[in-house]
Formats: sequence, C-alpha cells, structure tokens
Amino acid sequence: MRQIKIFDTTLRDGEQSPGCSMNLEEKIRVALRLQKLRVDIIEAGFACSSPGDFQSVQTIANTIKNCSVASLARCVPADIDAAWNALKGAVAPRIHVFLATSPTHMQYKLKMTEEQVLERAINMVQYAKKYCSDIEFSAEDAMRSDRDFLRRVTEAVIKAGATVVNIPDTVGYTTPDEMYAMIDYLLNNAEGAAKIDLAVHCHNDLGQATANSLAGVRAGANQIECTINGLGERAGNAPLEEVVMGIKTRPDAYNAYTNIDTTRIYKSSALVYNIIGQMVPINKPIIGKNAFAHESGIHQHGVLAHRETYEIMTPESVGIRKNTMVLGKHSGRHGFEARLKELGYELTKEDIDRYFEEFKKLCDKKKEVTDRDIEALVTQIDISESIYSLASFDVHTGNLATSTAVMRLNKNGDSFEEVALGDGPIDAAYRAIDKIVGAPPHRLENYVIQSVSEGKETLGKVMVKLSCEDEHGMKRAFNGHGLSTDIIEASILAYINAMNKLLGDL
Ligand code: KIV
Ligand code: ZN
Repeated sequence: MRQIKIFDTTLRDGEQSPGCSMNLEEKIRVALRLQKLRVDIIEAGFACSSPGDFQSVQTIANTIKNCSVASLARCVPADIDAAWNALKGAVAPRIHVFLATSPTHMQYKLKMTEEQVLERAINMVQYAKKYCSDIEFSAEDAMRSDRDFLRRVTEAVIKAGATVVNIPDTVGYTTPDEMYAMIDYLLNNAEGAAKIDLAVHCHNDLGQATANSLAGVRAGANQIECTINGLGERAGNAPLEEVVMGIKTRPDAYNAYTNIDTTRIYKSSALVYNIIGQMVPINKPIIGKNAFAHESGIHQHGVLAHRETYEIMTPESVGIRKNTMVLGKHSGRHGFEARLKELGYELTKEDIDRYFEEFKKLCDKKKEVTDRDIEALVTQIDISESIYSLASFDVHTGNLATSTAVMRLNKNGDSFEEVALGDGPIDAAYRAIDKIVGAPPHRLENYVIQSVSEGKETLGKVMVKLSCEDEHGMKRAFNGHGLSTDIIEASILAYINAMNKLLGDL
C-alpha cells in the first residue's frame, strides 16, 4: 500500500476564510494538535501577507518538531524571502510557491502570457531552492488550465528543483473523473512527475472536494491538501477527517494508508470548532452528533444484531467514546483525573486542578456528569489571561416589561457595577458589561447557543463572536465561550470571554 501524505492547511487556507480567524495562541494550539494527529505537513500561514502571519509561521516553525512546516508565498522574491525568514528555525521547512496557470487567471489576474508564467515559475522555484531543499509548487486553478501547458509547467518546475507539485481545483469546479484523468496524464506524461510528490488540493464549491481528492489518490497522487472540518475559502477545502477516513475505511478502493492517528480526529475537530466559535453541524460526516447515531428502530435492531449492518467504521476509531460511566458529586479528584486520561487529555497538574474545581461546581447543579460534559468543560475553559471576570448578575425580564440587568465584574481585585436596559435579558446584560469595560465600538457578529447533552439540567454552551476595527482599519474578530447550566450565565460568560480578548488585543 502507498502512503498518502496529509498536508494540513487549516492555518492558511482555512484561517484566511471569513469567520475563521485565530490569534497566535490559538494557532499554536491547533498546530500542536495537528502534530499529535500526525499530519505530515502543517501549512502554518502566508508569512508575507501580514506581520501577524509572519509571527505565527515563525512561532509554529520553531515549536513543531515532528512534521514539516510550510509557508505559502507568491512567485515573487519578497514573498519567498519572508517565507524563509519565518521558516528557517523549522526542523523540516517547506517553501510553498504558487502561480496561476489557467487562461482566465493568466489573462485577467496576472496579465501574463503562458511563456511569462513558465519563466516566472522556473525562476522562483530556483530562487526558493537557494534557501531550502523542500519546495512545493502549486499551479493555481490547475483544473481549469490547458492540460499540455500544465504538463510543461510541471516538468519545468521539477527540473528547477520542486519536490512537490500541487494540482489545485481552486474554484471547486472539477469532477472526480476529470481529476483522475489529470493526475493520470501528468504522471504518465510529465517528465519527473513519478519521482516527486504529486498533490491534490480541492475546494468544495460543488460538494466534490472529498470525491475529487480521493479520485486524485486513485490516479496516483500521494499528497492530499485538506483542512480540519473542511474550513476554507467559500465552501471550504476537502475535510481532513473525510479524506483520511475514506482511505482508512476503503483500503480495497485506494490501496493506500495515511499516518494519521484517527483516534485524535474528534478532539482535533472539536478544538477547531471551538476556537472559531462555530457549532458542529449535527449531520457532518465523521464528527457530527448524528454521524454514529442510529435512531430508527430498524437501524437500531440491525446494529444491535451485527454492528456492520449500518456502521462502516466505529466511533472509537475517530476518538468518539460511547458513554460508559457517569461521574457525580461523589466522584473524587482521582476518578476525575482517570476519566480525563481515558478521554485522551494529557494535562498539567494545574490544569487538572482548575478543571476539577469547575467539575465540582457543575456537580452541584447537575446530578450526572457525562463524558460530553467533561469534554465541554475542558474545551471551554480558556487558557488565556482574563481581564474581567464575572462576580454576579441580576437580570429581570418579561414579555410585558423592559429587561434590566445589574452586572458586577471584577478586575484586579476591584469590583465594578453597572445597570442597563435592553431588548431582552441578554441584550441588557451585554449593554451593562459594555458600560463597565468602556467597550470600544464593536459588533456582535454571532451568537449561538447549544445544549451539551440531553435533559433539562444539561449544560448550555454559548459562543459569541465580536468584531471591531484595529488602528489600521483592519477587521478583527474575537470568539468567546461560556458554559453553564443557566443559559443567561453562559451567555454572559461567553461575552466577557470575547470582550477580554478584544480589550487585550487592541
Ligand atoms: O486553492 C488554491 O489554489 C490555493 C493555492 C494557493 C494552493 O489555495
Ligand atoms: Zn486553496
């Protein structure tokens, strides 16, 4: 069986899409998780695009030890210089240069002829090669490019030193048959293509990203570019969890394997959703709440009689544990710690102490604490420093009354109180918080509430996204999380969490 390398671009193609931005600390958490997941390459960002991106590529390059770290660069020397400067501390650095090869992109965007594109590609691969041995060249919009021109570009960049040639379906336009034919053609006709890594990078505009990536693998591609949860421009990129489980579940179809520790997929997905402040769609393949749920009687009966009647992979294989035992207020620190270990969390003593304190508070409100509650606790509690914390709140609301909120927040040992009216209890509470912290102009971009498990005493999980403009007029987004059996408290905690990040960053 062939090994298929997994190139994760969550921190570049994923992070650059609207609503998915992450701060440096969040990017490092994702990169460390990707390392544990055992991806082969982490694309950490686009170093030349902003000082923030440069810093995150550099920090990730200096932190990650067990996989390659890549930075994207346009085919211009300044981009390549920045990519290298950010990457040079990496154990295995990769410069990833790209240039469009489709008639539409060359004519309208680049305003370059085929010959000019060919020459630029060769020159810039050679330029990057002076810095580092591992060079990836991406032919942007490859799947709408002329096949013979793409072959010439592929041959030329391989001769110039490219170790990986990537064939992106940039606009999500292609079909599995076309992808198969293109990879097959290049492997058989582009000199040198069989000796380097040929990659596919598929966008999901027509919902074909997974199918197209796997068609590329069947034709002989040996690197898939993908993102956790399929984050990415427009409809996203190929989801890592789908392509990896596709290959694992159907070795007969692909005759291939990846290095991914699939039992870490679920947690990696939860971490990324949590950081970007989005809920997991319930029917999302592999990781959605319903992905392994069998509701209809016929299905339940089938699975009970023989699991494989309706289950093609086990929840355990992607890191989802079926609830075994619940914990409660009589559970001690030992039992709690043991459960965290079983759930796959490797935490410091200080973290466990903190989570245990929250667990105990939860036990006072909820009789049975399930694995889902514990996972929510661990992923919700923010490790970043907070400026303000909640002391108390008093909210009054009714359908015939104007909602009022009295909020008290603590900061550095002092306590601050404000009252506000609002269009509902959450609005009133948020307005009172804004008064206390002297909030700069901002927008509440998103507010989502979800129950963690079933039943009336379940935990409510709230995610809010605030946005504002920084001093350069750039839009910045800040996600906050809150968890409580009281949804107003969860909403307040989420808002304070996001506001702390906003205040700390501006
Ligand atoms: O979609 C695309 O073409 C890209 C390239 C920069 C690799 O993201
Ligand atoms: Zn892309």
